Amino acid sequence: MSSNIVSIRGAITANNDEQSIAKASELLMRRIFFKNGLTNADVVNTMISTTADLTAFYPARALREVGYSMPLFSCLEPNIDGALGHCIRFLVTARSDNPVSNVYIGAARALRKDLTDYYAIALDGPSGAGKSTVAKLVAKELGITYLDTGALYRALGLKVLSEKLPTTDEAKVKACIEHVNVSIEYADGVQKVLLDGEDVSASIRTPEVSMAASNVSALPYVRAKLLSIQREIAHASSVILDGRDIGTVVLPDAEFKFFLTASPEIRARRRFDELKAKGQNVIYEDVLADVNARDRNDSGRKIAPLKMSYDAVKIDSDEMSAHDVAMSIINDVKEVVQ
Ligand code: DC
Repeated sequence: MSSNIVSIRGAITANNDEQSIAKASELLMRRIFFKNGLTNADVVNTMISTTADLTAFYPARALREVGYSMPLFSCLEPNIDGALGHCIRFLVTARSDNPVSNVYIGAARALRKDLTDYYAIALDGPSGAGKSTVAKLVAKELGITYLDTGALYRALGLKVLSEKLPTTDEAKVKACIEHVNVSIEYADGVQKVLLDGEDVSASIRTPEVSMAASNVSALPYVRAKLLSIQREIAHASSVILDGRDIGTVVLPDAEFKFFLTASPEIRARRRFDELKAKGQNVIYEDVLADVNARDRNDSGRKIAPLKMSYDAVKIDSDEMSAHDVAMSIINDVKEVVQ
């Protein structure tokens, strides 16, 4: 157990009735636990204050009744002119080695504009799990920007391939892409990837480029080059980014993190159908072999390997449609931001 003591703050609003206060208190604590990777044993104590207009129920009792076992202290705040009403605030003292994630939900987000202005959704997972389909649906419904980060690696993979260079040789790859400019443009909400100004969005989708992207993505120089582009886009508005290391490396403080998985066979079948629909002449067994090879590459590399962040929600999509997955993400986000 960690000996490092941290203070985690959180706030939420509720209606002045028993059910609403109980539900809000439970949601706030559940999210504080989840975002900070806590269990009951990690928590030293929790202080709770409620604004004077919340009189119908005790948040502390609500927490106790659903199994939170830490010492609790509750108090009522004075009436302050202009303050946000119907508000419950928590201060959780815990032992933790994780970075602190303060949690402001719904209307209480207005209390900490500095922490909650834009939000980011990190969607990681292996190739072919359906990330880009899901991310597009989520971005559309929530009205936020979508960045397909794999397309950036694909653009560099394409460049190295077109120069007929080995995609695993860091020195040669570096010399080839050092002065190459990769950028993103949005036309009617659709992402275009530009390689030195040329739109390569279509030509980066072949199986050869997939493998080249996977190879170049294992090189530290390539990852460093693309990190700043990804962060720049992510910090300019509310976003959903899909990739392999978004929750762990690119945006470790993303408010929402999801890890989307599916079995290699299901992922290969989906990729196969997608390529067929585009008129490409592919064989299922080749696509499956490609999925397995990329899994090994993406998970086995030393730098920023495909890995689930401790504060990510895992979604197994074998039995779920892209629409079902998107809805579960959308509901999770709406619970917090609206
Ligand atoms: O998601 P995709 O299949 O378009 O990605 C192409 C390759 O790029 C993939 O094999 C791994 C790599 N990649 C990465 O390393 N990190 C990311 N954030 C996104 C993609």
